[in-house]
This record gives sequence, C-alpha cells and structure tokens, in this order.
Amino acid sequence: MGRATVVVEVGVVIVLLQLVSSINCILDRSQFPETFLFGTSTSAYQVEGGYLEDNKSLSNWDVFTKISGRFKDGSNGDIADDHYHRFMEDVELMHSLGVNSYRFSISWSRVLPSGRFGEINPKGIEFYNKLINALIHKGIQPFVTLIHYDIPQELEDRYGSWLNSQIQEDFGYFADVCFRAFGDRVKYWVTLNEPNFMVLFGYLFGSYPPCHCSKMYGDCQFGDSKTEPYIAAHNIILSHATAVDIYRKKYQVEQGGMIGIVMNTYWYEPFRNLPADRLAVQKALSFFVGWFLDPIILGEYPPEMQRLLGLRLPKFSLEEKKKLENKLDFIGINHYTTLYAKDCMFSQCDYDTHQWLWDASVWLTGEKNGIPIGVPTAMPRFYVVPYGLEKVVSYLKERYNNTPMFITENGYPQGNNPSDSIEDFLNDSRRVEYISNYMDSLTVAMRHGADVRGYFIWSLLDNFEWNFGYTLRFGLYHVDFNTLKRTPKLSAEWYKQFLTGAKTLKQKGSETEVRQQLHY
Ligand code: BGC
Repeated sequence: MGRATVVVEVGVVIVLLQLVSSINCILDRSQFPETFLFGTSTSAYQVEGGYLEDNKSLSNWDVFTKISGRFKDGSNGDIADDHYHRFMEDVELMHSLGVNSYRFSISWSRVLPSGRFGEINPKGIEFYNKLINALIHKGIQPFVTLIHYDIPQELEDRYGSWLNSQIQEDFGYFADVCFRAFGDRVKYWVTLNEPNFMVLFGYLFGSYPPCHCSKMYGDCQFGDSKTEPYIAAHNIILSHATAVDIYRKKYQVEQGGMIGIVMNTYWYEPFRNLPADRLAVQKALSFFVGWFLDPIILGEYPPEMQRLLGLRLPKFSLEEKKKLENKLDFIGINHYTTLYAKDCMFSQCDYDTHQWLWDASVWLTGEKNGIPIGVPTAMPRFYVVPYGLEKVVSYLKERYNNTPMFITENGYPQGNNPSDSIEDFLNDSRRVEYISNYMDSLTVAMRHGADVRGYFIWSLLDNFEWNFGYTLRFGLYHVDFNTLKRTPKLSAEWYKQFLTGAKTLKQKGSETEVRQQLHY
C-alpha cells in the first residue's frame, strides 16, 4: 500500500470519527438488558457466493437470476461478497464491532444438494461448522435461519416446492439435519425468513422464484395469483410446524435453544381519519402478518381473511390444528418502514395490481396529498418513520400475548450511484440517524413492557439486494464489488461506540432538541 493511500484512509477514518461524535444521540447501551442480543444480519444467497463450490447444487435463486432481464443491473449472487471464502475476515469485523450475535442463513442446497433425495454434503456441513465455531470463539452467538428465500432448485423441478404438501416432509428433514449437526452450539433457530414476502413475490407478482403469477399481475408463464399464494403459505405454515415438532421432540430439551419464525412487518397509518381506514389498518396487519402468525400462535387464520377469501383460503384439518399448537418460542420481526392504508371496500380506489393487499380491499401508499409519510430513501416505498417500530412491536405484544420478540432486521438503503465517491458511501450519517432513531423507538415499546430480546442491523455488508441486484447498499461495511474489499462506514463506527461505550453518545441537547434536529 502506498503512503498516499494510507494518508487518505487515515483521513477518512478521522473524518468519520468526528462525524460520529457530532451526531447527537439519546441512546445508550444501558437502556437495554445485559442479556440483550445486539447483532448484524445477512443471508446465504446475498453474501456467500461460491455458488457451485464443494458440491453445492443450484438453488432456485441461482436459476432465477440467470433469467435475463429480471434484474436491475443484470447481476446475481454467484460471487456476492464471497463470504464463503472470507467468513473469517467477516467474523473479525463483527468482533471489532462488539456485537454478541450474528444472524445468518444456511443454504439448503449446500447442505443437502438434492433435498431429501440425496446425501448430506460433508463440505456444506464443514463450512457452517467452521463459521459457527469461529463465531463462538469470539463470543458471538449464532442466530440461524433455515430458509432465507433460497431452496434447492430440484425441489421446484420435482414437485413444485411450496405448492405441494410434500415439501413439509422435505423441510422437516433439512431442519433435522441442521439441528443434529449444529444444535449443540446454535441456541436460536429461525425456520423461515419472511414467508409473507416469499409467497407474495413468488406467487402473486412472480418477481421472485418460482416466478408464478396470473398475466395481469406480472410477466409469468404459469400461475394463479388468486389462489397460489394461499396454497404456498399453507404449506409453509405446516412446514414450519413440522420443523418445530422435530426440534421440540428430539432436540430442544437437550440442546436448550429457542425456535421461531421471522415476519416482514410494516406499520400502517389510516389514510384518512375515518373508521373505514382504521379498519383497513387492521385488515392490512391481518393479511400480511396475521396470515402466518395467527395460525402458528392462535391456531387459525385471522377472521378477516376467512371472511373475505372464503374457499380460496385452505382449511386446517383437525390433525393439522393439533400440529399447530404452541408452535413457536419467539417472533422475529423484520421492520423497515410505514405506509398509509386506505379502505377500498366502501371508497373508490383506482384498481392497481401492484397492491399486495388488494384481496383485503386495502390500498397502500407512502404519500398523502403529495406529502410523504417520512423522509424517502433510495428504495421505492421505503420511508423513514421511526415510531413505526414501537407501534408494530406494541401491536404484536397485544395480539400475541407478549410472546418474546427479536428485531431480526432493521436497516437503511443507500443508492449505489456510480457518480458517488467512496467517501459518500462511507459518510452514511442518514443510516446512523435511521438506526439510532429506530432503536430509540424500540426502547419506548420495551419501557411499556414488550418482551424484546434482541436487535439486528441489516446488514453487516453491502450485498446482493434481490431484484435490485447491487444497486442498493444496506451494509455497515462498504463492499467494493470489484475487489471485495470491506471498509467500515460511519454507521459501523457508530454501532461500535454504542456497543462498546468507547465514547458516550448520550450528550448534547435535550431529548426534544435532538428529536427536532433528527426530524423525529
Ligand atoms: C429481507 C432481506 C433484504 C432486506 C432489505 C428483508 O425484507 O429479509 O433479505 O435484503 O429486507 O430489503
């Protein structure tokens, strides 16, 4: 490295540190319990790369990304962050941040390349063993998701994956293999990440694999957007229950861990101050989150869904209902933003197939009379509304009897504009504001009694952002996608200071002043 480069890098770090100290923040690590998990999140397809290495088979995302024209920048996760080869370096980064947990997912096609129809891949097991051991060695708890959207393509080709009830047995088998191989060290298991988005994008709009939808909803060769999302969801709920059953019966007592599911969540504000729009908020929550959590926790689909969908909503048999009893230990919450919900049952709405809650007769929007609900970001329909986290947590606390919760994802997107310099990316003060304000909002819910046990920032690294490819950056660490070099952003320095107390951030100004300054 030349002297000039060193000088520039030292300069950047100094500027970042100055910026960190100048950000007012009312947050303090001591506002959270000692045992609270603070971590970062990633997922296999988005960071690992090594897509065909060491006997891994093709996943549905490997295949889907190769269908041309679907990805904003024509990219895929073949290399991604090359975490498969650089995981030791990434564990070091986390250690330097001071986190005590890391949420990642296991690639099913790395561990069981042909699902239940083939052998366990020793190389796949070895990779996750090495990662888990390295984390534990550094005092970082692994928080492991079994499916973060990607599954072996073979399950799709053989029987249509989530549309077929056979997947329940397959998923149970995969989960069993993972509990047996890693459960002595993994104490937090997530069965699935965001099945609500998985089925809406996979079977309503067809923008995720297996790319199913009716013609009017998107560009798909197969599918029925009116029924398939509900069939896929039904099989997912029962697959989750199968895995939890196996964990409870064979492993939990001995291994002593917890198992849950992660849902994507929005908070919704009524579009107008009318009873119909307040009802629209309730329906939106039921059709998006209650869709999965009600059966898993309360044993049945939400009443609104049963009423409005009629025969389109599959029914649980008595035996299945039995299987669903007591089917999680915690709720994982991925939360990013808030939208307005407007009733379309009694009011006029323009027909819009892009509305994923159309079946609930709810129209979602981020703007009212041209004014956004919060500061817009580089991602469409993503506004900064910190109080939404407090509201969503409080809602889930009431509806599900204060089941333990983890905030499994929360984070801020930067646009990857080619004209931006590295300094622009590293100076992510908006991310720092976003994270600190959302965390602050979380403390309000916790002070009101919500049993929240952890918070994970999405994401450790800039990575492959699904349909957006590499055009959005969510990382605390900047990744140069040509050299794969990782560089800490301001937000990484901020998180480190927050976690390690290297400098106190509780300073300057009253809470009101700070809130005003941060527009919160
Ligand atoms: C997903 C992540 C994704 C993040 C940011 C979440 O919905 O679980 O995989 O990268 O949002 O869009």
